[in-house]
Amino acid sequence: MIRFSHVTKSFGSRAVLQNLDLEIHKGELTFIIGKSGEGKSVTIKHMMGLLQPDSGQVYVEGVDVAKLGPNELLQVRRKFGILFQQAALFDSMTVEENIQFPLREQTNFTPSQIEHRVEEVLRQVDMPHSNRKYPDALSTGEKKRVGLARALAAKPQILLYDEPTTGMDPLISEMIDALIVQVNQEEKEITSIVISHDLKAALATADRIIMLYQGRVELAGPPSVFRNADSPVVRQFFSGKVDGPMEFL
Ligand SMILES: Nc1ncnc2c1ncn2[C@@H]1O[C@H](COP(=O)(O)OP(=O)(O)O)[C@@H](O)[C@H]1O
Ligand SMILES: [Mg+2]
Repeated sequence: MIRFSHVTKSFGSRAVLQNLDLEIHKGELTFIIGKSGEGKSVTIKHMMGLLQPDSGQVYVEGVDVAKLGPNELLQVRRKFGILFQQAALFDSMTVEENIQFPLREQTNFTPSQIEHRVEEVLRQVDMPHSNRKYPDALSTGEKKRVGLARALAAKPQILLYDEPTTGMDPLISEMIDALIVQVNQEEKEITSIVISHDLKAALATADRIIMLYQGRVELAGPPSVFRNADSPVVRQFFSGKVDGPMEFL
């Protein structure tokens, strides 16, 4: 679905991506993990053509994103739905208006199709009957659910979550992780990419994990590959982030 080939990217003298090669497989739930500042957000911005590589190629469904003009780029961006860390709902709009927004901007849906789709995605995230509420009236977890409903509304092929649980309390984090898995299972065709430094959630839920380190992929594979990894970088990440011996994961 997505492939990076020898991608480098620097900001000034800071080399962030250094000959990065990676693959995201269609229909899978992939976690991209790594320390803060390791280039995770920069990586997903390249996928959407929000940043251009200094060298190398970024392919989305075989198309080199860096070579596209503005209109073609817009088509690529419409493949993506994004859930930001802070849900990023418009406070002055109701739940329903928030979800209608991408549908009006990105689809040719009729008003009744829009209405139907809003109901559908609100049911999917277990938030029916909240159409007329304002974000202020929602709990943190509920805001996340609505943010996810909005990200799903225009039927994206790729769902991006950038640090969806960072700063959330453990119960809400677990709820969000479960919701991510649920959506990935319900939408058979959807490709989910979760940017995270939550190794535990990655091990518990991912189909594949990609670990970034110093601008490259340190290790990629299913959770089992990470549990049995010899790489000191991976072991160190484990020991810093996960309590107790790895056998219990
Ligand atoms: N637009 C930008 N201009 C300059 N530096 C940037 C920009 N975006 C990211 N960086 C730098 O690139 C590095 C990686 O950032 P980022 O991808 O956001 O890290 P993270 O892995 O925490 O998501 C950081 O050092 C950050 O300061
Ligand atoms: Mg980031």
